[in-house]
Amino acid sequence: MRCYERFIILTVLLCGGFLLMYTVRESTRDDNTSHRLHKVYWRLLRAEQRGEELSYKLFQMVEKLKTINNTGANVTISNSTKDSLGHSLNNTSTRRFLYPQPYTLLYLPHLSENDDSLQPRVYLGQGRSGVSLVLGIPTVRRQKQSYLVNTVSSLLFDLTPEEKMDIVIIVFVAETDGAFVKTIADSIQKNFPDDVKSGLVEVIAPSPFYYPNLSNLKETFGDSKERVKWRTKQNLDYSYLMLYAQDKGTYYVQLEDDIVAKSGYTESIKNHVSNVNTEQWLFLEFSQLGFIGKLFRTSDLPVIVEFFLMFHKDKPIDWLLDHILWVKVCNPEKDSKHCNNEKSKLKRTFKPSLFQHVGVHSSLPGKIQNLKDKDFGKQVLYKSHQNPPAKLSSSLKHFESHSLDRAYQGVDFLWVFTPNQGDYILIEFNTPQTVKRYRFRSGNIEANGDRFYNTTVQVLPSDVSVRQRVEQGQLSCCKPSSDGFAIIGSFINAIAEGPVDGALGGLKAMRLYVHSNSEAWAVLSEIFIQV
Ligand SMILES: *[C@@H]1O[C@H](CO)[C@@H](O)[C@H](O)[C@H]1NC(C)=O
Ligand SMILES: *[C@@H]1O[C@H](CO)[C@@H](O)[C@H](O)[C@H]1NC(C)=O
Ligand SMILES: *[C@@H]1O[C@H](CO)[C@@H](O)[C@H](O)[C@H]1NC(C)=O
Ligand SMILES: *[C@@H]1O[C@H](CO)[C@@H](O)[C@H](O)[C@H]1NC(C)=O
Ligand SMILES: *[C@@H]1O[C@H](CO)[C@@H](O)[C@H](O)[C@H]1NC(C)=O
Ligand SMILES: *[C@@H]1O[C@H](CO)[C@@H](O)[C@H](O)[C@H]1NC(C)=O
Ligand SMILES: *[C@@H]1O[C@H](CO)[C@@H](O)[C@H](O)[C@H]1NC(C)=O
Repeated sequence: MRCYERFIILTVLLCGGFLLMYTVRESTRDDNTSHRLHKVYWRLLRAEQRGEELSYKLFQMVEKLKTINNTGANVTISNSTKDSLGHSLNNTSTRRFLYPQPYTLLYLPHLSENDDSLQPRVYLGQGRSGVSLVLGIPTVRRQKQSYLVNTVSSLLFDLTPEEKMDIVIIVFVAETDGAFVKTIADSIQKNFPDDVKSGLVEVIAPSPFYYPNLSNLKETFGDSKERVKWRTKQNLDYSYLMLYAQDKGTYYVQLEDDIVAKSGYTESIKNHVSNVNTEQWLFLEFSQLGFIGKLFRTSDLPVIVEFFLMFHKDKPIDWLLDHILWVKVCNPEKDSKHCNNEKSKLKRTFKPSLFQHVGVHSSLPGKIQNLKDKDFGKQVLYKSHQNPPAKLSSSLKHFESHSLDRAYQGVDFLWVFTPNQGDYILIEFNTPQTVKRYRFRSGNIEANGDRFYNTTVQVLPSDVSVRQRVEQGQLSCCKPSSDGFAIIGSFINAIAEGPVDGALGGLKAMRLYVHSNSEAWAVLSEIFIQV
């Protein structure tokens, strides 16, 4: 409310000031003529009337805003907050989001035209809140390739079960076409059913009434009409996502839909945050690029969003973010060195970067954006182990130098073209091995979708009598395959691992066998045969 009061007082003061100037000027120029005085009198009267009209309009506006505030507060859960599965969302984060903050209405007056213009459409989500890290991924329809599933895969790749409990990943589809949002939600549901079920991954979209008419924007900074529209919408997208995220956890990390994460990124973030938590800063930078990997305290988000909304038509988001720093700490009477110095206290940059940009096509059609963060470095995409000497063979063709031999030796990962039914990887030990445990992991943090699906782990006992017992189904550990191998396990969620039953004795060979055609390439990032 204070905002409006200030506004009224300011307007009244300004009006008063003008009137005063007016009077003074008129009276000094025109001296004694009563005719002129008369004219001035009438003008004053008219000005006064105008002022009254103005203040009445202002009053009306304030009243209108008040009732909006009221209706906002009264809005109960409407049918639109049901997710696609029909669960009603009952949680505080959704509720508190419903109150339109006074400033959102000032900068986006069209929001008052609909009761639910800020109400998020939650397609997938369990209303998770109270976590440490909220990761926000805005995404839009792209003409070219979409990286979203890979991005989410990468973020999920090496989270421990504990870490999974303490994070929420919000995919914000910044589109109002419900059918399109549904396709995104469906692909997230299909690729990450467990993480959707646990509430770790959410898919939301804005209310269809959120965006103003973006066709009348002023072109600034030499940006074309299309570009101004794009960057303005982007500002609104980020703001919406931040508003939605603010109640869900302690820290908010801004991400993009075309990135890969560094292994162990959550731990790194938590460590860095705990090191500087008592100090003053506005955001921590875990990537050098644009608006990727910026961490905010969620308690700071309302102020930041207000700033973004205030200038959403004027500048792109990364400039606005920099301007916040400028406004806070720069002294116009001092030089830019002083300013940069002060700004760097509010913006802490961490190296190496934890997020790398992988996309080439920007969401602005035609814009190529081949930006790479130099400070991301190269990450190790495989885990090496000492494996028993063996002869290796496979029906799968590998990509570039990512061969089976190198993967088995623990110096690379195996990367193969799309596996089909009947494809195999065969490991024939030079001498029979008594294997205690095995572990095969598919996918890696940069290609987490490249997994082995419907693939079993099979072994060939060296002892003929054991093989016969397997074939006759006499061993409880395993099922027989059609050609003398015993099936001892399979890939579940990208990993196949377990002990090897001692009854199998020494093994002549191990084999991975693909049972159905895959849609993607496959990576084998860890091979561990423990003897
Ligand atoms: C809007 O609602 C909030 C919470 O209900 C209240 O604190 C605030 O004073 C209201 N503002 C106006 C303008 O009525
Ligand atoms: C909001 O709720 C209050 C009390 O529940 C009620 O008196 C008021 O009329 C409601 N306002 C609107 C706009 O529905
Ligand atoms: C929401 O409710 C209104 C009226 O109650 C109805 O017209 C509209 O179709 C509903 N929308 C959905 C998505 O169920
Ligand atoms: C939602 O909250 C209301 C009261 O706050 C409660 O009665 C209701 O059972 C809750 N529903 C769910 C699905 O949790
Ligand atoms: C609300 O959130 C809590 C914890 O964050 C969760 O246990 C609960 O299931 C959620 N309720 C609904 C209706 O989504
Ligand atoms: C947006 O504004 C333009 C120009 O004023 C107008 O032609 C167009 O119809 C408006 N679009 C909507 C959806 O109101
Ligand atoms: C695995 O492959 C077998 C044989 O082709 C097929 O019958 C089965 O449905 C597949 N399972 C899955 C989960 O795709």
